[in-house]
Amino acid sequence: MTVLLPRDKTASRDGARKAAPKAAAQASRNIDAPHIATGDIKPAKDAKKVFIKTYGCQMNVYDSERMADVLAPIGYAPVDVPDHADLVILNTCHIREKAAEKVYSELGRIRRHKTDNNPNMKVAVAGCVAQAEGEEIMRRAPVVDMVLGPQTYHKLPEMIAKVHRGTGEVLETEFDTLEKFDELSTHRNPKGFSAFLTIQEGCDKFCTFCVVPYTRGAEVSRSVAQITAEARSLAAKGVREITLIGQNVNAYAAEGPDGSQWSLGQLIEHVALIGGIDRIRFTTSHPRDMDDELIRVIGAQSKLMPYLHLPIQAGSDKILRAMNRDHSYEHYKNLIAKIRASRPDIALSGDFIVGFPGETEADFEATLKCVEEIGYASSFSFKYSVRPGTPGASLPRQVPEDVKSDRLKRLQDLLYAQQTAFNKSLIGRTLPILVEGTAREPGQLFGRNPYLTGTHFFGDEALIGQIVNVTITEAGVNSLIGDLAP
Ligand code: 5AD
Ligand code: SF4
Repeated sequence: MTVLLPRDKTASRDGARKAAPKAAAQASRNIDAPHIATGDIKPAKDAKKVFIKTYGCQMNVYDSERMADVLAPIGYAPVDVPDHADLVILNTCHIREKAAEKVYSELGRIRRHKTDNNPNMKVAVAGCVAQAEGEEIMRRAPVVDMVLGPQTYHKLPEMIAKVHRGTGEVLETEFDTLEKFDELSTHRNPKGFSAFLTIQEGCDKFCTFCVVPYTRGAEVSRSVAQITAEARSLAAKGVREITLIGQNVNAYAAEGPDGSQWSLGQLIEHVALIGGIDRIRFTTSHPRDMDDELIRVIGAQSKLMPYLHLPIQAGSDKILRAMNRDHSYEHYKNLIAKIRASRPDIALSGDFIVGFPGETEADFEATLKCVEEIGYASSFSFKYSVRPGTPGASLPRQVPEDVKSDRLKRLQDLLYAQQTAFNKSLIGRTLPILVEGTAREPGQLFGRNPYLTGTHFFGDEALIGQIVNVTITEAGVNSLIGDLAP
């Protein structure tokens, strides 16, 4: 078992989100598509092929795109299937046990494929499993040539050279987020009209259930100059919507152009000035870090979409304390009231964990009460998954699996009913949709409304990339149908 130790912020100089159903679906949509950018420098005609498989959160989707960017200048072109790839990269997630185990089953399939069909293929494991398990991966899966943590992918070309020189296993799990940010080009070559942009990485909160502070390190914010340059590059390539991402984006603090420390609110206002960028989103936020300036910007900045992901995890103060969330339910409720006063049309999304050690039926009912009182337009809910090395793993009174399953079902019944009711409340309303592409049904287009809900409607393909008005006619639990407004 790998024991996880907190990173020393000062020593390392640097600093998941969501392995949730929706985020995972987005991630796989991006890879299947494949949504992998190749950077400004195009690989040569006889390019080598790289297949990147992404697990988990938006941070990993972003990192996979950047890995492709780093590899393009040394002649690697992305492909959507691993069959003839020269290099396969699994960009992994460690947030819950299932996510980590998936990686080992995939490595088993890759080993068989390599032995039977593609003996020269090189295999890399990147991301949070790589960071947390390091050498253990090489021991458990000898097919792996390279292991690289989330802060080292800018070194991929060097690592590949080492592998080809046959200098043995290559393991890079250094923690220097600032170095990575400095080394990565701010030029992007996005596939679609909506793009992720990392503004911050890592987390100092140490929730007792979570591996992120160990796998991604301490909080580090990117400079306003770097972020703006990347946002401009995206806008120049036709991107209309930017989602500012990080494990804890509302803790953003970095030097602004005037030399003072800027907050997320200031950064959003600055990005909103970039021509071509019509929509801005940000995720994920922590209830401890929602400052008044951000709440003001949420109300005042019309390019900011009225949709906020603000996880609470549990409704019982006792469980919130045991989780080290550092706030009460009352604090969260007051915060939501303030945000709603600032932006009355805001739709909320949350993360919930059931079955944290010591959670009684009464504690769980407090979570149900919280959901009833707050009201969520969408959500991500999970059974507590023991993560080795985190404080939660050694807590007494672990909750039995069948109790967790029962609570998850009861919670999801309520959350999905709220989500459906929210979607149905949109019937008859005309909403701006950013058209992302065609839908499965011939003639139909697909896009997202301000609340991030997938919306289908008939229209000309020339509308792809535009923001059009659609009147909602039907609503399901996960998507909407509408008619193009005249
Ligand atoms: N078990 C279950 N869910 C977890 N999450 C993080 N760690 C765990 C865990 N050990 C959930 C939290 C977090 C989201 C990204 O994943 O709800 O907000
Ligand atoms: Fe994990 Fe808590 Fe940090 Fe979110 S705030 S990444 S749940 S430690």
